[in-house]
Amino acid sequence: MDINCTEKELFVFNKIAHAAEELNMPCYVIGGFVRDKILQRESKDADIVCVGDGIELAHRVAERFQPKPQVAFYKNFGTASIRLDDFEIEFVGARKESYRYHSRNPEVTPGNLEEDQLRRDFTINALAISLNKSDYGRLVDPFNGITDLENKIIRTPLEPGKTFSDDPLRMMRGIRFSSQLGFHIEEKTWEGICAHIDRIKIISQERITEEFNKILGSAKPSVGLDLLYRSGLLHIIFPQMVDLAGAEYIDGKGHKDNFYHTLQVVDNISQHTNDLWLRWAAVLHDIGKPATKKFEAGHGWTFHGHEVIGGRMVPKIFTRLKLPQNEKMRYVRKLVELHLRPISLTKENITDSAIRRLLFDAGDDIEDLMALCSADITSKNKFKVKRYLGNFNLVRDRLREVEEKDRIRNWQPPITGEMIMEVFGLPPGRIVGEIKNAIREAILDGEIENNYAAAYGLMVKKALEYNLQPVQ
Ligand code: CTP
Repeated sequence: MDINCTEKELFVFNKIAHAAEELNMPCYVIGGFVRDKILQRESKDADIVCVGDGIELAHRVAERFQPKPQVAFYKNFGTASIRLDDFEIEFVGARKESYRYHSRNPEVTPGNLEEDQLRRDFTINALAISLNKSDYGRLVDPFNGITDLENKIIRTPLEPGKTFSDDPLRMMRGIRFSSQLGFHIEEKTWEGICAHIDRIKIISQERITEEFNKILGSAKPSVGLDLLYRSGLLHIIFPQMVDLAGAEYIDGKGHKDNFYHTLQVVDNISQHTNDLWLRWAAVLHDIGKPATKKFEAGHGWTFHGHEVIGGRMVPKIFTRLKLPQNEKMRYVRKLVELHLRPISLTKENITDSAIRRLLFDAGDDIEDLMALCSADITSKNKFKVKRYLGNFNLVRDRLREVEEKDRIRNWQPPITGEMIMEVFGLPPGRIVGEIKNAIREAILDGEIENNYAAAYGLMVKKALEYNLQPVQ
């Protein structure tokens, strides 16, 4: 076998080869596993295609291991899989028609290897390696997938229109591979994508979002995001992002193209983190700009409040894209809402109270927020960038100082709502909230010290405004 497999993988393939020989069933390792091995990328799962019944082969293979692994199989789709520790192997019988995972139409017409390869998505994903005794380890590459791998080309084995109508998700997969691997989409394949974008509508949102997230996970996500935009797919799957594109001019004054600015910010943050949600925050940080755009005479273009509007758009976008509605969403929303705060601090005097407020509002996400804000500095003017980053370091120093002094990041005021209720014999309600807020605000503003005695004093004073006195 010419590809660089681990001992364990070779051991497993050997067992598969023997099981297949017993059944007199030609079989091959195929698809992403072969591609990734040749590219020397990490590969997790292996797909095995056999000329025969994949489920039968999976059972026969399982019997050769101690303890015997469970065989998960889908009779309708003719697929089966076994897991050996962290190595998952999927078995499928070669087929004549499109290779689709769990497609709605489960009918499968058996075919030979070449027919099966022809109906796969890209030439680089159609490479197969024989596990048969007569030519064990031979690469079967009828469409020059190896040359495409070497030349970094994404190309469909069939006429592209056919491949993409068979499974329109492949349009996103092609763009994802291009972004992930730094490959170029061959011209006819690209035209095929552009001509079939409407077909993406039949694909489930979950599968689309999974590909989008993989694009976002690539080293330079702008490659894939820009291809999504230029093909027209982005207009269908994520129109709010397209609304960022373009620059308008009035009286000779323009604003920057917020789409390409966003792509730059996403690339910048991706150099700093692999975290998907921080990358999502970068995608969405300016999403409220189109809705807040105004031209003010004598002033130019403004986007007042875009962080608030953008924050409000986050839950809607997450719902539409079927992204999780949990703390991840709240995290992204928070970063979108706060993304101007550190930069605004660099413009005014950096007071202790402004720093304290930022620490309080950002909590443990302060580092991520600072990273997002640094990524947001995309000016072409080198001096400007230098000045901003210099100011930023100043803010960072001050954040450290104030945090050391006040420990405000996960801070709770020294007097709680329960205490207020107990001291004044109050039921829960508006007044309790107002007294509590007054104490918190006074501490954050530095008007009183951050301790119990000072907070208690203010509580009594504030309560007097409501004619309240401590009950004994
Ligand atoms: N495949 C296909 N069309 C699809 C999905 C998959 O033709 N829409 C074929 C390709 O040959 C692919 C193989 O099935 O290589 C395995 O698919 P999958 O595991 O989804 O993708 P990989 O190519 O292995 O890549 P990744 O794991 O990065 O998704």
